[in-house]
Order: sequence, then C-alpha cells, then structure tokens
Amino acid sequence: MSNAKRIVLNNKLLIIVALTYIILFIVKTPMGFAAIKNSLYYFKEMLIIMPVIMLLTALLEAWVPKRVIEKSLGADSGIKGSIFSFLLGSFSAGPIYAAFPVCVSLLKKGASISNIVILLSTWAVVKVPMLANEAKFLSPKFMIVRWILTSVSIFMIGFITSKFVKRDEVMKLYQKDNSETKKLQVNADYCIGCGLCAKLSPEVFEMKDRKAIVKNDQLNDEALKQTIERCPAKAITGKD
Ligand code: F3S
Repeated sequence: MSNAKRIVLNNKLLIIVALTYIILFIVKTPMGFAAIKNSLYYFKEMLIIMPVIMLLTALLEAWVPKRVIEKSLGADSGIKGSIFSFLLGSFSAGPIYAAFPVCVSLLKKGASISNIVILLSTWAVVKVPMLANEAKFLSPKFMIVRWILTSVSIFMIGFITSKFVKRDEVMKLYQKDNSETKKLQVNADYCIGCGLCAKLSPEVFEMKDRKAIVKNDQLNDEALKQTIERCPAKAITGKD
C-alpha cells in the first residue's frame, strides 16, 4: 500500500470532517463559522483534559499489572467485576471521550467487553456529579428512578454487547497492518525516552539520542513481552 493511500485511510474520519467544514463554509458561511467556534471550544477543552488522561493511562499501563486487571475486570471477575466497573464509572470525572483511552488500556490488560461497556455507560450517564445536578434541577425522585432504571439497563447492555462483540475483535484494531507490527520496533514519535525498555531488556533495546532503538530482535521471551507491555508510551510494537 502506498504511503499516501495509507495516510488517507488512517485519517479518513478527519478528512470527511474537513470536507464537511469546507462544504458548510461554501453553502452556509455563518453556520460554518458557528461550527468552527464550537469545535475550537471542544478542542481547547480536550487540550486541557487529554494530557491528564494520557498521563493516567500511561501510569495505569506501567504500574498496574495485567493480572490485577484480569482479576478485577476480566471475563472471570463475575458480578464483583461488574460492580467494580460501575463504581469506577460512577466516580469518574471528565467528559466521556476521556474514557476511551482508559478503556483501551483496560482492554489491553484483560478487561472484559461487558465490564468496559458498564464503565463507559456509567461514566456517560450516571456519574455522581451528574446525579447531584440532576437531583437539583429535576428533583431527587426523578434522579433516583432514572438512576435505577438506567443502571439496570447498563448491566443488561453490558451482557448483551459481550455476546455480540468479542474482545479479540476490538483488539485487532491495535494490531492492524500485521506485516509491520510483527517486526519488533520502537515508534520514535511515541517514545518519551524514559529508558525503561533498555533497563528491563538491555539485550534487546538501547538508548540513542534519548530514544529507544532495537538492537536485537531475535529474542521473543516472556521478559520481552513484559517490557513491551510496560512501555508507558506504548511505543514498542511487534512480537505480540
Ligand atoms: Fe521509549 Fe517506551 Fe522505551 S517510552 S524508552 S520505548 S520504555
């Protein structure tokens, strides 16, 4: 696949949005300006929130062992995992789009689809700060009845989604273009130069100009897998 084609395919959503803006400007200029204003507002909000979320995600990936996530949110976590996901979502903060990178990290670490659905849904519609406002504006009775009905629905949606969507299907998104990812490599754009990989697997990685490079890609053992998993920037790909 040519580079230009790959860039277009990887950014198709962005290109569609840009074209929509251009058409809007041509057809309805005031509406085009209003759309840009709204987008800038959300863009500024994202600039404030996303670095914090990315940091939390990196810490989660680096410091929370896979077995902990598998045990507490994995397919065998049962009702405890569902309740834990529900509580995580309920006591979350920030807009829903901030939940997506966190959910990807949890999925990579072994969380189940149903628990991810529960976490996302509670984050979106029943988190505690939202409930407090709802009770204030629409009455406590309204809030309680809606909370109960929504919560029951969330558990059901989690269960049903897990029957239709398999974890591996979602994870394939992060393993696309396998011809490239099979080769052990460090994405220099993502590498933050923390040196953890060179410390954990010195026979495979070394640091050069404050970036990690692969010096030997012949090894493929458990220690290397752990190192790949622990890279806080998820800059290492291949040997999955
Ligand atoms: Fe870079 Fe990750 Fe290694 S951030 S230095 S590739 S651990």
